[in-house]
Amino acid sequence: PILFIAICALAYLLGSVLFAIPICQLSGLSDPRALGSRNPGATNVYRSGGPLPAIITLLLDALKGAAPVWLAQQFGFSVFAQAMVALCAVTGHMVPVWYRFQGGKGVATALGSGLVLAPLTTSLLALIWLLVLWRWRISALASVIALGSGPVISALLEPETLPMFGLLAIVIVIRHRNNLIRLAQGRESRF
Ligand code: G3P
Repeated sequence: PILFIAICALAYLLGSVLFAIPICQLSGLSDPRALGSRNPGATNVYRSGGPLPAIITLLLDALKGAAPVWLAQQFGFSVFAQAMVALCAVTGHMVPVWYRFQGGKGVATALGSGLVLAPLTTSLLALIWLLVLWRWRISALASVIALGSGPVISALLEPETLPMFGLLAIVIVIRHRNNLIRLAQGRESRF
């Protein structure tokens, strides 16, 4: 269990690195927490910096979710234990120790963890995300619909991961509450 606790701690500490912030600093962009949706995530980096810094943010935030789950897999931990590691990484992104516990929405980090732990479910959720974005041009709507479908899709394809996708759906939808309010008022920004 000491190894498991160490990997969970690593996942949380790594998850707490909000890559949107250093990437904006290094690219000479304003702090993402002061612009647009004020969310330190790839979507909001896109609003101020366009595709390149946004894609780099997305990849690094996904990688920090993927790496600790991959490590847990190498050590032969159960799917349930790997799911706990994934949730630690997402928790790090949402309540980061390095940024006064004020974090982001966890979508990219969940994507990275999910691709390692439940590749079928996660690929399908990513496809749903892309289709919703393509149709409506609203990132938050794509995230809510994709993550909201996670419990049903994981139950069908990778049932061992249903508890994780259930929790992710709850926390990520709650995290988008302000986006949902803006959507209902027709004020949510489009790509
Ligand atoms: O992953 C975050 C995305 O779903 C919404 O981001 O900046 O529009 O609040 P944002």
